[in-house]
Amino acid sequence: MVKLGVNIDHVATVREARKERNPDPIAAAILAELAGAHGITVHLREDLRHIQERDVRLLRQTVTSRLNLEMSPTAAMVQFALELQPDQVTLVPERRQELTTEGGLDVAGHERELEKIVQNLRAQRIRVSLFIDPEARQVKAAKSVSADAIELHTGNFARAFHEGESEQAWMAERSRLVDSTTLGNRLGLRVNAGHGLDYQNVRWVSSIPGQEELNIGHSIVSRAILVGMDRAVREMLEQIRLGETDIRK
Ligand code: PXP
Repeated sequence: MVKLGVNIDHVATVREARKERNPDPIAAAILAELAGAHGITVHLREDLRHIQERDVRLLRQTVTSRLNLEMSPTAAMVQFALELQPDQVTLVPERRQELTTEGGLDVAGHERELEKIVQNLRAQRIRVSLFIDPEARQVKAAKSVSADAIELHTGNFARAFHEGESEQAWMAERSRLVDSTTLGNRLGLRVNAGHGLDYQNVRWVSSIPGQEELNIGHSIVSRAILVGMDRAVREMLEQIRLGETDIRK
């Protein structure tokens, strides 16, 4: 069964629009868990544009499923994670001006530095996942720095799916996800995926054999604003299941 990690960053985006107390991402996390989410994900960005340290500390105390902390691989963030003890850290590249994470981490180009960080975190029994583009050399590099898991960047697939490109074009992007999932599994890595997944395209990713968990934020929070978090999470879980039951065969 493919699991769902709900990314609640954008609940904090709405709060930060006014720098007030509502809506509180802690409440959103509790509602997402009650609706069946298997994990809660937050990205503590260096510019603190949405999630704040206070949120992550409270989530550590309240999340009863699994807390996945996305962060850039800097010394300050690693220190914060070692102190916080999330269940999992997902290392992502971060550029200040970007609207959202724009690409995967170049693990192949930074093996030495990343290996040390992975070791430090794993020594404290924090699972480490690396957010990478679906490329064989990045999957192999993730294995060689001893990561536990990879999260495949589904941004190109999602863009091709929604920009009216031919089925052939987005199926080609999906094939890259299939190949990287197969390779990751073969190397003994847990394989997750995320970015740009929504109610229309998610089934084409949950149907990929060997996928463990999908991390989804913007589409769920957007729907939650209109229909509530409970329904938004349940409807996403239904779409994930559809992919597993209808497409996989
Ligand atoms: N996975 C990673 C590594 C991310 O950086 C993000 C965005 O914060 C997501 C998943 C969720 O992407 P989206 O908000 O498009 O669902």
